[in-house]
Amino acid sequence: MKGIILVGGRGTRLRPLTFFRPKPLVPLVNRPFLEYQLDLLRRYGVEEVILCVNYQAKKLMRHFADGNRFGLTIRYAAEQEPLGTAGALKNAAAMVDTGPVIVLNGDILTDVDLEQVLRTHRESGAWATLTLVEVDDPTRYGLVVLDRRGRVQRFLEKPSWDEVTARTVNAGIYVLEPAVFDYIPAGREVSVERETYPQLLQRGVPVSGHVARSYWLDIGTPDKYLQAHWDILEQRVSVPVPGREVSPRLWFGQGAEVSPQATLIPPVVLGEGVSVRAGATVGPYCVLGDQVTVREEASAAHAVLGRRCVLGRGARVQQAVLDQETRLEEGACVDGLLVAAGSVLGRGTRPAGLPGPPR
Ligand code: GTP
Repeated sequence: MKGIILVGGRGTRLRPLTFFRPKPLVPLVNRPFLEYQLDLLRRYGVEEVILCVNYQAKKLMRHFADGNRFGLTIRYAAEQEPLGTAGALKNAAAMVDTGPVIVLNGDILTDVDLEQVLRTHRESGAWATLTLVEVDDPTRYGLVVLDRRGRVQRFLEKPSWDEVTARTVNAGIYVLEPAVFDYIPAGREVSVERETYPQLLQRGVPVSGHVARSYWLDIGTPDKYLQAHWDILEQRVSVPVPGREVSPRLWFGQGAEVSPQATLIPPVVLGEGVSVRAGATVGPYCVLGDQVTVREEASAAHAVLGRRCVLGRGARVQQAVLDQETRLEEGACVDGLLVAAGSVLGRGTRPAGLPGPPR
């Protein structure tokens, strides 16, 4: 079976993390995010994955190459201009000979049971089956209303509260028959959520919904991105935590060294070769990338530090993401910010007022 992952978006809401890499390569607990999705597809018997690429496509192609390293065949459908979520599928259609095919948005963390979605698809006889999840606030998503037989009745993109009649939203996980691609116009930007699916309904094409009770999170904003880290550390989603669990909820990568005079408050993940010095405090809720150094008396809490970041003596980070190779000099303090890769914050700096994860 084939899978398609939509990975062409610019990921503007995750800037600055997406300035120099596409969203699927942004690390999540020290692994490029897309690797979790490849694991999921492989677990359900997908052998070939087509990545629909546009923004920073070359970086994706270099990292995932032919897929061999991930136990899959990976091919690329490249767009010269972004074609939108349906246009991207149309652009990949020639690579899909038989159906059904599983389609994923490239920015969702989930452990959804794809076998169950496929079963719903087969039993309903639909041409398209959308996985739905229930959320508390459907006004930020695409609301999907089902009838009693599980057929999609209507779509409402980002509804206002007085339009909310259900809480089931489009999870960005679909099973499609290739015939659906014939309904997508070629060569222009088309949205699958706003254009293609509503048109299928209008034309009487059967579209089903499968309500999943699994873990699901769209990681596309800073607060959700941090949340995804904490959910993995709390093992609320069934994905492995990298490293060896040396004591409950403390994971150490190879060569990680922690001074006996340092304090670790779980949950914490330390990447390979991390060094935590005397008097430093790390945690709770911290992920430190490979080769991070936390110097004497420095502290980090509710924070994600990319590889080779350095916290100088007495520096403090909380509720923040420091992208790779950021350096905080002695006494610098970061609270509630996303900091771009390679930044250097001088002695005692306390930047304020930049956008960051909400508290
Ligand atoms: P924002 O700029 O922060 O909204 O992020 P985004 O560009 O990723 O957009 P959005 O989260 O709405 O996209 C949902 C999924 O569709 C993501 O996995 C995107 O990579 C993907 N996507 C969005 N637009 C395109 C496109 O034009 N082409 C391709 N191939 N994928 C797209």
